[in-house]
Amino acid sequence: MFVTFEGVDWSGKSTQAVLLAEWLRGAGRTVVATREPGGTTVAEGVRDLVLHGAHMAPWAEAALYAAARADHAAQVIRPALGRGDDVVCDRYLDSSVAYQGIARGLGEQRVRDLSLIVTEGLLPDRTFLVLLDPEEALRRATGDHDRIEREGAEFMGKVDAGYRALAAAEPNRIVAVDGARAAETIAEEIREHVRALL
Ligand code: TYD
Repeated sequence: MFVTFEGVDWSGKSTQAVLLAEWLRGAGRTVVATREPGGTTVAEGVRDLVLHGAHMAPWAEAALYAAARADHAAQVIRPALGRGDDVVCDRYLDSSVAYQGIARGLGEQRVRDLSLIVTEGLLPDRTFLVLLDPEEALRRATGDHDRIEREGAEFMGKVDAGYRALAAAEPNRIVAVDGARAAETIAEEIREHVRALL
C-alpha cells in the first residue's frame, strides 16, 4: 500500500504521517516512512538546493522537485512496494501540482505530467489531504522559514485552493480531513479509511 500525506505548510500532515506509520507497524506491517523532497542521497541534496538555495526560475524549481521524485520513486518507493512493504510518504506529486502547477502558475496538467513521466506513472493508493485554513497554518508557523515558506499568505492561499480542487477532482484517491481538530482525532479518522484498504 502506498499512502501519501499532503497539506499546506504547518497543516500537521507530518504528524499524521508519523502516526499512521506507527499504527501500521503496530499492526505487524513493514513500513517504509519517507518524505519529499528527500528520501535518497541525491534527493536530499536537491532538497537542500530547492529549500535553502538562491532564488530560481519557477520551472527550475519544478524540475528539481521532479528530479528528486524520480530518484526517490525508483530507488525507494518502487523497491519497497515490490517487497510488499507499505510506503507512507510525507508529500508526493500532489505537492508539485498544488505548489508549482497551481500556486506558481506553471499549469496543473503540465506539472502533473512531468511528475508522471519521471516516476513512470507511480500514483499513491490513497492520499490524505490535511486541510487547515492558511491563516491558521501561518499562525502555527515556527522557526526559520525555508524558501517556499517565505512566500507568505497569498501564496499559501493559492496552494490551499489548489489542493481543495485536486481533492474534488479525484475523490477516490484523495481523502480530505479537517486538520483543525486534535491530532489523535484526525489520526483515528485516517485509520478508519486505511482499515478498509488492508
Ligand atoms: P516539507 O517537508 O513539508 O517542509 P518542512 O520540512 O518545513 O516540514 O516541504 C518542504 C517544502 O517544499 C514545502 O514548503 C512544500 C514544498 N514542496 C513543493 O513546493 N513542491 C513539491 O513537489 C514538494 C514535494 C514540496
